[in-house]
Amino acid sequence: MKPVGLLTVVFAVIQGAASQRVKVDREVQANLGDAFQLRCKFEVVQGIIPNQVTWVRESSVGRENIAVFHSTHGLNYPNTALKGRVSFISPSMENPSIQVSDAKTSDSGTYTCEYATYSSGTEQASSTVFILAKPQNNATTLPVIAGKNAVVVARCESAKGQPAGQVFWDTTAAGNHSNTTKLENDNTVSVVSEFRLIPTAADNGRDITCIIKHRAQRTDDIYKMKLAVQYPPTVYISGYDGQWYVGRSNVQLTCVANANPPPTSFEWTVASGQMPKTAQITGNKLSVPKVDASINTTFACEAKNLLGSGQDRVTTLVTAEPPPGSSATSSIIRAIIGILVLAAVNATGLLLYCRRRNRLSL
Ligand SMILES: *[C@@H]1O[C@H](CO)[C@@H](O)[C@H](O)[C@H]1NC(C)=O
Ligand SMILES: *[C@@H]1O[C@H](CO)[C@@H](O)[C@H](O)[C@H]1NC(C)=O
Repeated sequence: MKPVGLLTVVFAVIQGAASQRVKVDREVQANLGDAFQLRCKFEVVQGIIPNQVTWVRESSVGRENIAVFHSTHGLNYPNTALKGRVSFISPSMENPSIQVSDAKTSDSGTYTCEYATYSSGTEQASSTVFILAKPQNNATTLPVIAGKNAVVVARCESAKGQPAGQVFWDTTAAGNHSNTTKLENDNTVSVVSEFRLIPTAADNGRDITCIIKHRAQRTDDIYKMKLAVQYPPTVYISGYDGQWYVGRSNVQLTCVANANPPPTSFEWTVASGQMPKTAQITGNKLSVPKVDASINTTFACEAKNLLGSGQDRVTTLVTAEPPPGSSATSSIIRAIIGILVLAAVNATGLLLYCRRRNRLSL
């Protein structure tokens, strides 16, 4: 008696109308391949005698009876797509619940538990069945080369879902996406979403996120990715401060290249053709331990990667003397001031000494 009592409570919660004598679950969800139950219960009232209960399915095929239980003729499973998979769990007029095994996506639809009664006619209630297939999701970025045409830079896929997975994109990249949907043999749906943009160097490393939502997933699948755009080097030379003079020590030029992939080579050249002997080159650095007149020239640096090259040049003007206001000049000035102050102090001392002597002699 106890299980029945429990069942009654559940059913009362599920569908409440007091006048409704047939009670079913309003909504039933099952995963593809699993078994699912369709519960039905009839509240027996005096004077209303059910003599047949029929489960009727409405789907794209139309209305069809899938399972019948007659008070005298017993059980019958008509020839439908569910025959062999559908059965009454423990058949009785009060509790004609059925079970369907090996759920297929085509099992989705409306199932009605329909009673034929003496004195009250037909009474019924319906369940909506959703057969879910959890999709297999994945996402990837595609390495691309900076250019003038829009290309696919990222792809997000939700395969074999029922219903179809929902794909969303989140990025600051200036592009847009398009989806392709494919119906699979097992009636599941595969979705491929491609994100396109005109790739620029600035898009390299930019964040792009694909989010896939699905009823059968407990949480959204979130794929955080970074765009990968390859581009030839853009180059500038740093290190020349405009204050190079003969005798200045330890100056250095650096060839700074922005490139993806990183530059494979740096080549330093000089306008005169002959690299000065005082210049020392290691990779992207050109060092001059002691500046001389041979450094009074124009240096160029070219960086290369597999996509191309970039170049910059700098004219390093060398003066014979440290320019005014340079750190060298100010130290000389400081020295001169120091000497002058010292001289002034000495002069003052001498003056006082002389005065004192003069006073004494008076
Ligand atoms: C996609 O983006 C490009 C440029 O960002 C725009 O010109 C084009 O109209 C967009 N296409 C759609 C379908 O929104
Ligand atoms: C460097 O070259 C400039 C002209 O380009 C010249 O005026 C200057 O005197 C040169 N400096 C030295 C130290 O020769």
